[in-house]
Amino acid sequence: MDSGDTHGDGTVPDLEVPNLARMYDYYLGGSHNFAVDRAAADRALEAAPHARTFALANRAFLSRVVRRLVADGIDQFLDLGSGVPTVGNVHEIAQAVDPRVRVAYVDIEPVAVMVATDLLADNPDATVTHADIRDPRTVLAAPGVAGLLDFDKPVAVLAIALLHALSDADDPAGVLAAYRDACCPGSYLAVSHLAATSFSPDEQDVVREVLDTTPTPVTMRTREQLADMLTGYTILEPGVVLLPDWRPDDPGGSAATGAAANGYGALARLPEARPDR
Ligand SMILES: C[S@@+](CC[C@H](N)C(=O)[O-])C[C@H]1O[C@@H](n2cnc3c(N)ncnc32)[C@H](O)[C@@H]1O
Repeated sequence: MDSGDTHGDGTVPDLEVPNLARMYDYYLGGSHNFAVDRAAADRALEAAPHARTFALANRAFLSRVVRRLVADGIDQFLDLGSGVPTVGNVHEIAQAVDPRVRVAYVDIEPVAVMVATDLLADNPDATVTHADIRDPRTVLAAPGVAGLLDFDKPVAVLAIALLHALSDADDPAGVLAAYRDACCPGSYLAVSHLAATSFSPDEQDVVREVLDTTPTPVTMRTREQLADMLTGYTILEPGVVLLPDWRPDDPGGSAATGAAANGYGALARLPEARPDR
């Protein structure tokens, strides 16, 4: 497995400022977070109690979408912005169904990469790469990605709770398009995105303010803005929906909590024959 460089310039964790990956780990009940992360996460939670609801609903969405992909025969995953490993990691969910599944994790946060490196030490079918996903060429050429995944066969690209960490200036649609163009027909893209579906304007301000103190400020977007990023793909049923409403394990059980999750999710697939390739 490839761990990338966790000691070079810019790859040492900054424990003086809060970090999105570690705040999310805290919301999920993980242990790879620091006082500075917990203080920031608690500040957001105090003003916007549903900040944690997003994390929980998102992680549950991730689990459902991975199970669905493996059931559809996908055995390769490129998990962009994979986060600090916590309960229900992609390789654990996928390999429990099909032990041959390969998973390449990519994250910019050094603690996430270090924890994943340890966790994956004995797993020849999963790698972690320390990289900025805004540089698709570097990501796709990294040994942990190019050496593990075969892009001539369908791959599922995961961009789960990641795209809101990209500003409009980062051109998230353009970044996704670069990964899309590396994939063959029949490949998939799963996305989820923070959205202000129940946050009041005041709550949004606090969430933004807190996350502005991290290295990755967030941009909340609408359902339409997320759908617009999926150019070239066919969005599968049920479409771009509130996270708990995406193929719930318990249909009907999500209606009350849908908007409280403050996030949308979708699964999309590249058509078999693409005229633009
Ligand atoms: C909220 S976490 C989501 C983790 C996981 N995908 C999930 O949904 O459970 C977002 C992750 O994206 C990572 N991230 C943000 N911007 C990134 C970038 N430009 N390149 C790579 N990773 C990035 C953060 O470090 C963090 O681990």
